[in-house]
Amino acid sequence: MWQAKVIMQNGELMPFAEARVHPLSLAVAYAITVFEGLRAYYHPGRKEFAIFRLDDHLKRLEVGMKLLRFERGFERSYLRDCLAKLIRANEPDADVYVRLLAYIEGVGLMATTGPVGFTAAAMPRENPKYADTGMSLGVSSWSRLSDNASPPRIKSTANYHNARLTQLQAKSDGYDGALMLTPAGKVSEAPIACFFMVRDGKLITPSVTSNILESITRDTILTLYREVTGREAEQREVDRSELYFAEEAFLCGTGQEIIPVTAIDKLPVGNGKPGSLTIQLRQRYFDVVRGNVSEHPEWRTLI
Ligand SMILES: Cc1ncc(COP(=O)(O)O)c(C=O)c1O
Repeated sequence: MWQAKVIMQNGELMPFAEARVHPLSLAVAYAITVFEGLRAYYHPGRKEFAIFRLDDHLKRLEVGMKLLRFERGFERSYLRDCLAKLIRANEPDADVYVRLLAYIEGVGLMATTGPVGFTAAAMPRENPKYADTGMSLGVSSWSRLSDNASPPRIKSTANYHNARLTQLQAKSDGYDGALMLTPAGKVSEAPIACFFMVRDGKLITPSVTSNILESITRDTILTLYREVTGREAEQREVDRSELYFAEEAFLCGTGQEIIPVTAIDKLPVGNGKPGSLTIQLRQRYFDVVRGNVSEHPEWRTLI
């Protein structure tokens, strides 16, 4: 597998191990950071890389920076060029996972708004664990953050304390992963992925007002489902007890892609195996992100 050679900080490429932020910067002191995880898929036949839904990721980053009142943003075209340059400089020969972080690099009081810096890293990423076998989830006793406390809708680093607590608990309780509920007890999402389930043949996912990150993969799945089946998925509140009615379930996210969920709270989902709609959507997802089909060229930025 290829290795990351260079990393980018504030537009400059440098050896991977040499990136630096000050330990008293707001980025470290108060986790004043927003980030994106993106994937550039490699097409070996055409020898090309395509970043999936690049502009949607950059848009979400911009809103996160705005909400956290960063004193300046970055031009979208500039970041697009930076990521292309970064990927090329690493000379990958397989899929690339990109981490793009914008943060307050200044040292100061909590309300300091700059200077603003950014780092971009390109790394190889192995296939997610459980992708073929499916995974077990346990409903966490930690609640998902709420919008009026630490908005989950933006991808801020601080939100991941909550996610990590649920993940640690799930692992120590013998699950592969966690599923979080809102403080009102409705299903929200997993620590690093959104949740879908199938009930009576219908695809259902918690609404964007269920304290979730507005996931780009979730939006992709909603679109592909509509195209494949001619039906709309239900986006709505999901009660915890509905989970046990699910015939199929899966998690989705850029990093996780699509992972079947085969058990929740030690009860089997459906027959305890990855479901047929899950497998069908997963196949379609890979065909689209990899450019094996002609649909949705607008989602793939060739670099
Ligand atoms: C909390 C959370 N939910 C959902 C997702 C999936 O988001 P996306 O599909 O935009 O990658 C992520 C991805 O990292 C995440 O961290």
